[in-house]
Amino acid sequence: MKDFKDKVALITGSAHGFGKVLAIESAKRGMKLALADVDESALTETVKQASDLGAEVISIPTDVTEETAVDHMVQTTKDKYGRIDLLINSAGVAVPGPIWELPTRDWDWILHADLLSQVYALKRVIPIMRQQEGHADILNVASMAGLVSSPLMPAYYATKFAVVGMTEAVEYDLQAAKANVGMHVFCPAFVHTDLQHSENHRPAAYTNTDDPYYSSDTFKQGQAFAEKDITTGMPLDKIPDIVFGALERDDFYILSHPGMNPAIVARAQSIPTGKGPDLAALAPFLEKTHDA
Ligand SMILES: NC(=O)c1ccc[n+]([C@@H]2O[C@H](COP(=O)([O-])OP(=O)(O)OC[C@H]3O[C@@H](n4cnc5c(N)ncnc54)[C@H](O)[C@@H]3O)[C@@H](O)[C@H]2O)c1
Repeated sequence: MKDFKDKVALITGSAHGFGKVLAIESAKRGMKLALADVDESALTETVKQASDLGAEVISIPTDVTEETAVDHMVQTTKDKYGRIDLLINSAGVAVPGPIWELPTRDWDWILHADLLSQVYALKRVIPIMRQQEGHADILNVASMAGLVSSPLMPAYYATKFAVVGMTEAVEYDLQAAKANVGMHVFCPAFVHTDLQHSENHRPAAYTNTDDPYYSSDTFKQGQAFAEKDITTGMPLDKIPDIVFGALERDDFYILSHPGMNPAIVARAQSIPTGKGPDLAALAPFLEKTHDA
């Protein structure tokens, strides 16, 4: 997409982080907005900032882990604007912990929040986009964790690899169908958002407070790592130019941390050799995950 003015953007996760700065950038570019998030009070603030910039905006409080809520979000956008030109799936959470300790309920939560939420939205939005005139775009937020894995967060890596694979496969299907819709997947390393506070966005259906895991040292360490890694990440204000520049160029993979690119290549090259994960070989790349 080259010209964003008067186009309609539906953005999940727009109360904080990537979703919020991409909503503000969309407003600056003259787009009409439908903004969704589970954090209603923070969403109100994004809506206010976008409308102060002169944008037409609707607020759609939505828990994207629920398929019926996502259906409602998409239908409300269609009812208001009659079309959707850009869908940004940015709602998501992070859940640290080794597989032998992390409660299964947390797998359920992250699979719904980071993967199935996007499935629900794609199922509803693609048919709408295909019925309308003109080109439309969909941006799924994945992560560098969808291209290169590392220790501590198997549930997170599982969902992010799934988002990358799903987005690639949908792009093939759209090409085969000669559809007017282009897919994109955003794969950043650490960026200073609000992601370290994912616990604040845990829906009631996934609460698990009685589980001893949440008073364990492993959980506390995971929270401390998240706090350090996210707050020392790339400044969030660099993201709008990176993402909108990539959308203008029609890039499929949107990358933001060039120091990690050799790690993507190293992983791909090791696969045909049969050589698997090697913590010592990964270590130098992990130093690049915060680079701006
Ligand atoms: N920040 C990073 O370093 C980083 C790196 C790579 C990928 N990501 C991914 O980017 C995406 C956005 O995260 P962020 O970093 O902007 O974090 P963030 O916490 O700042 O923003 C995420 C937003 O999603 C919303 N959300 C969470 N659960 C929801 C639900 N069930 N329904 C609706 N909204 C919900 C939150 O309220 C929040 O507004 C996530 O998928 C995350 O995994 C983040």
